[in-house]
Amino acid sequence: MRFRHKSLILLLMAAAAACGGRLAFGSTQPVHAQHGIVVSVHELASRAGVEIMQAGGNAVDAAVATGFALAVVHPAAGNIGGGGFMLVRMADGKTHFLDYREKAPAAAKADMYLDAHGNVIENASTIGYKAIGVPGSVAGMVYAEQEFGKLTLKQVMAPAIRLAREGYPLSWGEARDLHDKYLTQFAESRRIFQRDGNYYQPGEIFRQPDLARTLERIATKPDDFYHGRLAGELAAVMQKGGSLITADDLAHYEVKEREPIRGTYRGYEVISAPPPSSGGTVLIESLNILEGYDLGKLESRSAQSIHFTTEAFRRAFFDRAEFLGDPDFAKIPVAQLIDKKYGAAWRDSIDDAHATASKDLKRPSIFSELEQYAAAHPQALGIHESPHTTHYSVVDAAGNAVAVTTTINDWFGSRVTADGLGFLMNDEMDDFSSKPGVPNSDGLRQGAANAIGPGKRPLSSMTPTIVVHDGKTFLVLGSPGSSKIITTVANVLMGVVDYGMNIQEAVDAPRFHNQWVPDVLNVEQWFSPDTVSVLQKMGYNVEFGLYDGGDVSPYWSDAECIAIDPKTGERLGASDYRHNGKAVGY
Ligand code: DON
Repeated sequence: MRFRHKSLILLLMAAAAACGGRLAFGSTQPVHAQHGIVVSVHELASRAGVEIMQAGGNAVDAAVATGFALAVVHPAAGNIGGGGFMLVRMADGKTHFLDYREKAPAAAKADMYLDAHGNVIENASTIGYKAIGVPGSVAGMVYAEQEFGKLTLKQVMAPAIRLAREGYPLSWGEARDLHDKYLTQFAESRRIFQRDGNYYQPGEIFRQPDLARTLERIATKPDDFYHGRLAGELAAVMQKGGSLITADDLAHYEVKEREPIRGTYRGYEVISAPPPSSGGTVLIESLNILEGYDLGKLESRSAQSIHFTTEAFRRAFFDRAEFLGDPDFAKIPVAQLIDKKYGAAWRDSIDDAHATASKDLKRPSIFSELEQYAAAHPQALGIHESPHTTHYSVVDAAGNAVAVTTTINDWFGSRVTADGLGFLMNDEMDDFSSKPGVPNSDGLRQGAANAIGPGKRPLSSMTPTIVVHDGKTFLVLGSPGSSKIITTVANVLMGVVDYGMNIQEAVDAPRFHNQWVPDVLNVEQWFSPDTVSVLQKMGYNVEFGLYDGGDVSPYWSDAECIAIDPKTGERLGASDYRHNGKAVGY
């Protein structure tokens, strides 16, 4: 994902700095649609969703069609070998949150990525068979289709099957991404994605007959993936490669319907992802802290507004590290964390003119539950969470809305392709804490609640979010970007709510990020140097861009969002110019 469209970025950098956070040129207007719209990272996947709505499907049918299509046209992150979260808000106001996050296999152990000396084994939780969690995407999408869709699974999977069988032309960036050196290490991945070394060229048609067959089998008999022959084949391939995943693990996989997290921000209702994602909790905790400041008056991307927002992020990420994990394995004090009184207490600790050093943060003692938990679990460090995933948003003609973030974690996941089945497997085990005290490639740290355990779901940052105003869906938001997902969603939401931007301007606006540790304020490359200099004087350690596993990326995340115009009802789709996303409506 990093360094894609670099020349465009360089142009944008030059133009954007002095525009109150809005870009001076480029697509500052969203795509307008009267009926339905899909926004995703790939035009063909967005089109798949629209095709399904035009054939009579609702937003869930379209989301499932888009999800399967992304598994074909965006193999780096779209998937059937990973997991995700789907937030649905139907036109009548009913909400559903589907957790189809991967699970640790039953044989997983807390220290499985440590060597005999207790040191983390490099790449053990990211590359290869041992990194793979039990995949949930097929279960999740099938569940969504069966519970909330109007069409049949066969109908909604048809576009994906067609794209896999007939192929699609690779863009320059897609062809280049397939050169990934870790894919080369796995014979089946090398065969399928690298044509055994005769690499695909830009413009060439990429066909995936094995994947087409697997998708056809799922469409015909979805249960087969977890309980039938397909499950047997997948388990055999996993075992042969040295994965811990067994047929029993697949048979025990289950989708969880969870209560989404709810908060309010300046009169808007914010509905978002509950644990095992940290996304909704950290988002709403941050917004609660910020509600006490008149950010609109301070102007978008002014040093003062960035200061307050960063201090809110810092505090919410501090709590993320302490408390969040799989709610089926630990009691997560979400109610206290998203209590407005707690937000106000955190706000009192913010100095108007100076950055707080992360090491000096002291949690307000207003809830004994938080204090007791923190005393029992001294702040532990260490989590792996990597920056590649994908988000898509859908609204249909009736006003049903769906936000989905799905991942195989790293770019191309574990790089393992299931032999003969044609799809890549995740490396989601890396989202657990491999070892307390060892920060991950993103420098993220977190506690005991996220230790590896059999059957457990690793903590996520994925933040599919729906914002409601006057009882009606107003915004559908989300992004990839690991820990940056949460601050990206906050940046976009505040762009609209606090700074009066249209949804495209809010997606385009330069992002900033802080996650408690490392104690750094990351700003996208085209921030105004004047603003940065004021922030430095306030005590911030500002870094332009983001260190991303060896490279510095000038930008991050990929917000694929929708707003519904409250006056006209028009669907306004904003894809992120940082990538090749596309809003397609009708
Ligand atoms: O679940 C998580 O938070 C991570 N596995 C997501 C990784 C991610 O967002 C990568 N995005 N570009």
